[in-house]
Amino acid sequence: MQSARVPAIEFGSGSSSQLASLAQAYGVRLLLITGKYSFELLNNRQELLQQIESSELHLVAHLQVSGEPSPQQIDQIVAAHTTQNIELVVAIGGGSVLDAAKAVAGLLPSGESVMAYLEGVGRGEQYDGNALPFIALPTTAGTGSEVSMNAVLADREKGFKKSFRHPALIPQVAIVDPDFLASCPAWLLAANGCDALSQLLESYLSKNATPFTDSLAESAIEKMGQGLIPLWDSQGADAKAREAVAYGSMISGITLANAGLGTVHGLAGPIGGLFKIPHGVVCGTLLAEANRVNIEVLLARDDTSIDMVAERIALHKYATISEKLGFAQQSDSIEIKLQALIEGLRGWVELMKIPKLSQFGVAERDLNMILSLSDQKANPIKLTQAEFAEILRTRW
Ligand SMILES: [Fe+2]
Repeated sequence: MQSARVPAIEFGSGSSSQLASLAQAYGVRLLLITGKYSFELLNNRQELLQQIESSELHLVAHLQVSGEPSPQQIDQIVAAHTTQNIELVVAIGGGSVLDAAKAVAGLLPSGESVMAYLEGVGRGEQYDGNALPFIALPTTAGTGSEVSMNAVLADREKGFKKSFRHPALIPQVAIVDPDFLASCPAWLLAANGCDALSQLLESYLSKNATPFTDSLAESAIEKMGQGLIPLWDSQGADAKAREAVAYGSMISGITLANAGLGTVHGLAGPIGGLFKIPHGVVCGTLLAEANRVNIEVLLARDDTSIDMVAERIALHKYATISEKLGFAQQSDSIEIKLQALIEGLRGWVELMKIPKLSQFGVAERDLNMILSLSDQKANPIKLTQAEFAEILRTRW
């Protein structure tokens, strides 16, 4: 078993007050990258800026970025700051902001274009790992970017969403302050929470899961079961729910980095590349139906032959998920647990009003294009194109 490096983690209510004291260990000349809207909504944004001002740190620039970062945006930021002797990068924002800052931290020392390294669509050059220290403070609970090695960039003109990925891009410190979620709009809490939950389920069910990732995923799935709906119901006001979902999201970044993902993200990649639709919404809208199709296919192909071991493990894991999320009791039969999980996830998607894909202009005419770009990733069973299509058709 191998494990990617995990950042030093400061987790808990009020942990963002540690930012300046932790950052000073990594340098003085600081580039701060925040979201636009999300940063303005933060209750303690002035305190965060004052912390930096009254410390030994020198704020060279404060950039505000919005939307999902494109390779061109990253290159522009790098080109504008490469001669300014930046020593560390701090990001406060959602997954897109953290990903943008992560890529910038990775490129500032060389001034190189991110297109040299972007997976699948770049020039395929070897990244040398010469990255600036990076500290990540997530303001949403969804991607787990604060603990992962990939920066996801989108180019909608070319229709791709690809990663700049390297162990050196893993943040030095992740400061996860669940109080930040108090100012996050409820629809975003719901969509991002579904992203985190899906990342946990996909990495738990992954063909590449290990006892290490399984134990982390199980604890985090249980937390999501306790926190996600109370967080939605309270519109972010429930402090215990904020902590549970922030924890689940952070752990999902560790499990996905070590075990990989499955069909929801295998579809979310191309959909996010082709259409302007928030990543969490794609994951949320596919969450219940992708798992329903997976379970039905696993059951249909289930038999007792030796090569079906992986499939049987996946079905048992689905039963465990059903229990951990609170949809079934330990004493229930596996059939009841699986059915309860499908109905439970459908109920959550409905309750949290996760929009359908048609609201973002995605329709039947786009099916073949999406399918041609989709990926099974590490799903425990290989789905046919027709089975992939069925997931999408239920969410037009
Ligand atoms: Fe995701």
